[in-house]
Amino acid sequence: MDPALAALFDDIWRGLVRAAADRRHPWRTPVLATVAVDGSPNARTVVLRAADPATRMLRLHTDGRSTKAGEISRDPRVALVFWNRLARVQLRLRGHAEVLREGLEHARAWAATPPSARRDYATTLPPGTPIATWEDIAHADEEANFALILVRVMTIDWLCLAIRGHLRAGFACEGDEPRATWLVP
Ligand SMILES: Cc1cc2nc3c(=O)[nH]c(=O)nc-3n(C[C@H](O)[C@H](O)[C@H](O)COP(=O)(O)O)c2cc1C
Repeated sequence: MDPALAALFDDIWRGLVRAAADRRHPWRTPVLATVAVDGSPNARTVVLRAADPATRMLRLHTDGRSTKAGEISRDPRVALVFWNRLARVQLRLRGHAEVLREGLEHARAWAATPPSARRDYATTLPPGTPIATWEDIAHADEEANFALILVRVMTIDWLCLAIRGHLRAGFACEGDEPRATWLVP
């Protein structure tokens, strides 16, 4: 790989690792796009919880009853869009996701989830259920609905907006050796 692209690739993953650890990082809240049951696109903001450059995996948390969890179970293809307005860098990742509802990684993530955040997974009714009034929102067993979304990143499209000229690069991470190329922005 071109040394400049190799350095950029490492820098992108360092940024993702930092974003997962720093709630003020602009890449902390990407938009996750999924394929809806009828084949149309669906998208929503999520929190990036972990990024692992070695395995090219990202971790998100959700309610296992959510629409997105159902969509991923049916079609694992996802895209994530990040925008860093300070660095003026957009990242578009495409990959395959799976929903984990149990296991060691699930247990560890739950143990690390603070009590204040646990309520997010504890509504008695599934997310998106129509209710007559907000007073109908009730909470029950917290852990039951907690789920992980693990994303294996397959491609990265990096775009940097610069006054002297925009720059764009593409990376394919399917094999052991990532492939990279500069792209016309
Ligand atoms: C800043 C922000 C962060 C969010 N983070 C998450 C998250 O990490 N996981 C999640 O399931 N929903 C998160 N949400 C809520 C989702 O955007 C969405 O409204 C909800 O999960 C229902 O999506 P769905 O019906 O497509 O499953 C977040 C919303 C905002 C505004």
